[in-house]
Amino acid sequence: MSLFSTPFDPTRDTALVTGAGNGIGRAIAQALVGEGVRTVFADVNAERVTAAISASPRPELAVPWVGDLAELEACDALLATAHAALGEITHFVHSASPPRREADHALAVDRRIWQQMHAVNLDAGFHLARNLAKRLIAAKRPGSFLFLTSLHAGTPRNLPHYSTAKAAMAMLVKELAKTFGRHGIRVNALVPGAIAAGGFVADPALARHIPLGRLGEANDLAPMALTVLSNKLSGYVTGAAYVVDGGLSLTNWFEPPALDE
Ligand SMILES: NC(=O)c1ccc[n+]([C@@H]2O[C@H](COP(=O)([O-])OP(=O)(O)OC[C@H]3O[C@@H](n4cnc5c(N)ncnc54)[C@H](O)[C@@H]3O)[C@@H](O)[C@H]2O)c1
Repeated sequence: MSLFSTPFDPTRDTALVTGAGNGIGRAIAQALVGEGVRTVFADVNAERVTAAISASPRPELAVPWVGDLAELEACDALLATAHAALGEITHFVHSASPPRREADHALAVDRRIWQQMHAVNLDAGFHLARNLAKRLIAAKRPGSFLFLTSLHAGTPRNLPHYSTAKAAMAMLVKELAKTFGRHGIRVNALVPGAIAAGGFVADPALARHIPLGRLGEANDLAPMALTVLSNKLSGYVTGAAYVVDGGLSLTNWFEPPALDE
């Protein structure tokens, strides 16, 4: 049988994707229902959730949820909806993140923006993952969790609320991978480069610094996301970070060599 033909088991696998209303989260959620996986599309923006589901390959497999994941009560409400609709959630993707605004540099970012960024990325990610894991462990079911981090988990972005939240998420992935591993729950990070997806207003001139010659698109992330999520394809992978950036992170002040044609 082909290795890639059935990466998921639609009779048992279920998914919850945060930030599923736009960008990378939407692309991953749509790809999951395309593989036959019943999936909760969670986002703060109701119109985006409706549009993402109706544009997905199999809308009948999608469960909508709308709420603000900066609030822990909303995270609990999301868990309740997800479990009521789908039972155990075996695959979790945390892509929700508030908008990045260049004006929010270290001398300007206010406390509310700082806390919101950490609340959605880190606090909600931890709370959701831990509670999903508790249910899976009790049910003796395997699981696979994926956190959207960033190259700016390791390099400054001029947005300290964002880079510190992503740096903490990168460590959270390792902590959870270590703790949950013996229960068959894998936890990994997906590290996008410059993806013109909505959360990042990309300057086309940036393409000059990307070895593969173009900015990324949300759909560039979905195949790797599903590969890492799949227990069949990545069953021995946990605590890892997958960079999907067209080579952006290879850039430094040296230009590539000028090769003769
Ligand atoms: N686009 C990039 O270049 C890039 C690069 C590195 C990392 N990332 C990360 O990938 C993820 C997705 O990025 P994107 O560019 O697709 O983002 P996006 O802004 O297009 O989508 C994020 C989604 O999260 C939702 N959201 C925001 N706040 C929320 C809240 N409080 N509760 C629930 N939902 C909320 C938004 O409504 C939106 O639909 C983010 O975690 C981002 O930090 C993106």
